[in-house]
Parts: sequence; C-alpha cells; structure tokens
Amino acid sequence: MQSRTHTCGQLRAGDDGASVFLCGWVDSVRDHGGLIFLDLRDRYGITQCVFDPQDSQVAWSRAESCRPEYVVRVHGTVRARPADMVNDKIATGAIEVRCSGIEVLNRAKTPPFPLEDREAMAVSEDLRLEYRYLDLRRPSMQRNLLLRHKLIQTARNYFDANGFMEIETPILTKSTPEGARDYLVPSRVCPGTFFALPQAPQQYKQLLMMSGMDRYFQVARCFRDEDLRADRQPEFTQLDVEMSFVGQEDIITLIDGLIAKLMEATGKPVPALPLPRMTWREAMDRFGSDKPDLRFGMEITDLADVFAGTSFKVFARALESGGVLKAINVKGGSPHCSIKMVEQDWTGMAKEAGLGGLAYIRVQEDGTWKSPIVKFFSDAEKAAMTAKLGIAPGDLVLFGADKAEKVLPLLGRIRLLAAAQTGAIPEDVFKFTWVTDFPLFERNDEGRLVSVHHPFTSPNPDDIPLLDSDPEKVRAVAYDIVLNGTELGGGSIRIHDPEFQARMFKVLGLPEAEIKDRFQHLIRALEYGAPPHGGLAIGADRLVMLLAGCKSIRDVIAFPKTQKAMDLLMSAPATVDAKQLRDIHIRLAAETPPAAQAPAAE
Ligand code: AMO
Ligand code: AMP
Repeated sequence: MQSRTHTCGQLRAGDDGASVFLCGWVDSVRDHGGLIFLDLRDRYGITQCVFDPQDSQVAWSRAESCRPEYVVRVHGTVRARPADMVNDKIATGAIEVRCSGIEVLNRAKTPPFPLEDREAMAVSEDLRLEYRYLDLRRPSMQRNLLLRHKLIQTARNYFDANGFMEIETPILTKSTPEGARDYLVPSRVCPGTFFALPQAPQQYKQLLMMSGMDRYFQVARCFRDEDLRADRQPEFTQLDVEMSFVGQEDIITLIDGLIAKLMEATGKPVPALPLPRMTWREAMDRFGSDKPDLRFGMEITDLADVFAGTSFKVFARALESGGVLKAINVKGGSPHCSIKMVEQDWTGMAKEAGLGGLAYIRVQEDGTWKSPIVKFFSDAEKAAMTAKLGIAPGDLVLFGADKAEKVLPLLGRIRLLAAAQTGAIPEDVFKFTWVTDFPLFERNDEGRLVSVHHPFTSPNPDDIPLLDSDPEKVRAVAYDIVLNGTELGGGSIRIHDPEFQARMFKVLGLPEAEIKDRFQHLIRALEYGAPPHGGLAIGADRLVMLLAGCKSIRDVIAFPKTQKAMDLLMSAPATVDAKQLRDIHIRLAAETPPAAQAPAAE
C-alpha cells in the first residue's frame, strides 16, 4: 500500500488530531536541536513534517538520512501550530504533522540545478530543458501547466455549451499555406512522396463546413518550420474554430464571450464586452503596428498640418513627395532615454528603415528644448506642436518623415522600446483589442503578391472591383485578436464560391498546374454546395503565456523545443539507422555533416 489520506496542500487547523498518510518529494530536511523538520512537497503544496526521536527512533533516523527529492510516505498526527508559529507563506502553515513513521519509496540523485523557483531561473534554459521532468517539479511551472489546463478546459466547455462539435483532423496530411515551411514525413508505401504536418487544420475545417458540421472546434496541434522567437514554437496548439452561415460579427461576438469566460475562470479581470475594435488602418496610424499594445498611450501623432509650410527641408521634402510627418511624445522620456539610445540605437533603426535619420527634441526639466532641429522651426510651429503633442518638461519627442509605410512601423517599434525604457507599461493589466479590415494582399521580398492571411480569405465585397486594378488596396474580411501587443489569434470569412476561389489563386499568380495539384480538392468541394463560412484560431500557448505573465512560450509548454527547434530531453531530432532510411526511400546527400550521418550498422 502506497496510498495517502491527504495531499501536501490540504491540511488545515481544523484537521488537528487527525491521523494522516502523506506522499511526496522531500523539499528540505533541517535538524533543529534534535528535532528533524522535513518539508514534504507535491503539486498541491508543502507540509511541514516533524520527527522527534522520542516518538520513534527508527522514523527519526530514517528522516535524517533523507535527501532533497527523495520520494517518501509519512505517517503521523496533525497538530495545529501555536499562533506564533503559524507560517502565513504556505497554505498548510497553520499545522504540522508529528510523524511516527516514514518509508522511503525511492531515492534521488542530487538534481543538476536547484528546484527553487528563483534559483532555477538563473541556470541555463538548456539545462532545465534537458532535465525538464525536474524543472516541471517547480511550483511556478506547475502553476503554468494548471493554468493551461484550466484555460483549455474552459474553452472546451464554452464551445460545447454553444453547440460546437470537437472533431479531430489528420496530422499526416498535405501542405496548406500559412506562410511557414512545412515539416515533411516521407511515405514508405509510396516511394518519393511526402506527407506534410499541418501548419493549421485550415482546409479540413472548411471541408467540415461543407459536410454540414456547422460549428466545429478543435484543440489542434500545428507544426511550422519557421524562425523561432519567444512567442513561437515549431509545434504549438490552436483553439481552432469554424462556423457556417455567419459573418464577421458573429465570430467576434462568440470570441468576445470566450475571452470573458477564460478571464473569469482563471480569476483575471473580466473585460467589458464588446472588446474594443479598430481597423488595421487605424492601428497602423495610431500605434504603427497591426498588434497595438493598448496598455499605455504615447500614440503616433500626425504633424503634417503643423509643418505644412515649414522651412525645415527634411520635413518639407517628405511632405512634398507624398510622405508623412509623424511624431511620438515619450512622456518623461528625456532622463530615461540616453543620447546614445536616441542618436545611435533608434536613429540606426530609422536608417535601416530607409529614413535619413530620426529628428528629436529633448525637453529639459526647466522647459528648454535641446535639439539639433528646432532652430529651423517658427514660433507658430513650436506653439502648435507643443499644443498638439502636449509637450511638458522632461518629455522626449521623436519625429519620422518619409513614406507612411516606413515611418509608421518604425515609430511603432520605437514606441514599444521607449515605453519599456520609461516604465510606462503597467503589469497585470490585460488590454484586448480586435484589429479588422486587414489588407488582403501584400508584396513579399521578391515583389510578388501574397495573401496576408491565407488565400481562402474573402475580400471585402466593396473592394472586389480593385482586385485586378489595384490589389494592394483590397481589404479582407479578416480580423485578429490582440492582447497586450501580441497577436493572440486571427481568422477570416472564407471564400465559398468555387469560381471566385479559383480567381483568387490566379490573382496570386499561382500557375494552373500548381492550383490543380495543391487546391483541386478544395475547389471541387466548393462545387458541391458549400455554405458561407468563417472562423478563427487562437494560439493557446500565447494565451497561457500572457495570462501567466511569462516572457517565453516555452514556460507554458510541458516539453518545448529550444530556439534551435530541438528537444534536449529526448535528443530529437536524431539520426536513424540505415535500414529505416532505406525503408522510406531516403538517401542522405554526400554533403550531410558526418555527425548527422546514420550509423552504417543495422
Ligand atoms: P494564424 O496563422 O494567424 O491563423 O495562426 C493563429 C494563431 O496561432 C498562433 N501561432 C503560433 N503560436 C505559437 N507558435 C507559432 N509558431 C505560431 N504560429 C501561429 C498565433 C496566431 O494568432 N488557419 C488560420 C486561422 C483561421 O483562419 O481560422 C491560422 O492558422 O497566436
Ligand atoms: P540632415 O539634414 O540629414 O542632417 O538631418 C537633420 C536632422 O533631421 C537630423 O537630426 C536627422 O536625424 C533628422 N532626419 C533626417 N531625415 C529624417 C527623416 N526622414 N525623418 C525624421 N528625421 C530625419
């Protein structure tokens, strides 16, 4: 029998006198004048266990020989602690267990890093990931995974209550365009062919609408071979949704309700509904980003009217050539943002973005302006600018003058850096917003037209006449939900007319053969009675990361990959033996590094 009567987080003063069995890991063992204090830990909490040699000499000496991370089962009697001994820091701090017995269920080597939260965060993440099962013993990691569980469970219940059906879609499938590289799986049965792991269940969920499933939902694993960042993993999870006979309004309303439920279920501040919305154009103009962080102001301000007749050449040239003149006022920024930061780092960013520089004004505490450019401004310009930007002592004003496509994203990035630098971003605040009316297309690095979202997205009906003449002006019926400056999810209303879908592939310049090869199945399905439909997917990992207050998505995934897309715990990816390669008709290229060559032996 290795069972327990209570967990290590359960006992309270009311349990005084109870005879209990507890199981868990030894968190610490201390010898205090002959008494052994053993803190016993499991995922529910910590309980202080006390061993007195006068109660049981055997138990006492066994407890004394325990080391951290030993797995033990103790038997004892709950004792309420005297008021002055109560430990407010732990939930079981009102009691301790006077132990008469202890069994060592398993011994443990000394962990390669301390499992105490603060100290563990100081060791290299690679080491934590190599021993992830130990890392996951830490209370903060356990809290993160519990929060993740709660959020996913709440989403499941919400969708179920709203008539959604959870349907699994294949993992071995065909490439579907979401903008990243595919993970490929060679077929043994059909030599020379490959499955792709899904970047998203996009086409399947649309096909399910054509099957009449009406409301689909899935906790969907997605795979994308792309450059990794703190908020990206090669393998991640979406809360994936699709609905029939709906428009954008229905989907936004549904997800507003989900967000409120998720916040409520996890004890976070529930936002007022409907959640705020802004168009993509407005987001770019005011925040220089399609994922605006609304936790602070410092919005981008247009100064074209103020400087319409300016004699300062840099501004005049930009405005005359159809560009813009924009500024941000970094409130109280002067003392926080060094000259090097402004003149080297941020000006460097401006130059990389193609601007000639980054004009600025540092407002001294006495209200005087330090700036290489104000000598070119008239008194009227200075007064109008002061009023428009609300300039006060200590402020730092930054100007960008050039094409809007260059200036807005630049000031958007600097706005975030300046806010972090001046401590303008409040913690524990959750600001959601929808961004709607994204452009349907953009130009990629090679100048080719590509979908901003994916090629199944409906254009705004008002903009269809522009499809051939001025495609970059066409707005999509696509929407993102943004939290604290991170894109949490996105979706769109889909094209359900087969001819229109075929036309869209052509506008994107896909050759006929490629359309047939990659999308024939979808076009054919659209021909057999496809309902109007649309949906969205929320990045579950990002959601948990933001609500848990973590900086990295890896801290909310049980077994994440490193920045190099490796699993250090399992040592994956790994070489395979020659026979396995032969079976799947793969021969490694001669230039493959020797370390990656499969061992010759079978
Ligand atoms: P999209 O590509 O915008 O849309 O993805 C939806 C959400 O998934 C999350 N996400 C990621 N999370 C972690 N690591 C990644 N590498 C990663 N990539 C994306 C983001 C993102 O907002 N099929 C469409 C949805 C639809 O149209 O219904 C899609 O996948 O939070
Ligand atoms: P210049 O005339 O190039 O010496 O620039 C004069 C000032 O204007 C310098 O402080 C530059 O950093 C700044 N500046 C130059 N080009 C731009 C621009 N496109 N937008 C904003 N500031 C600029």
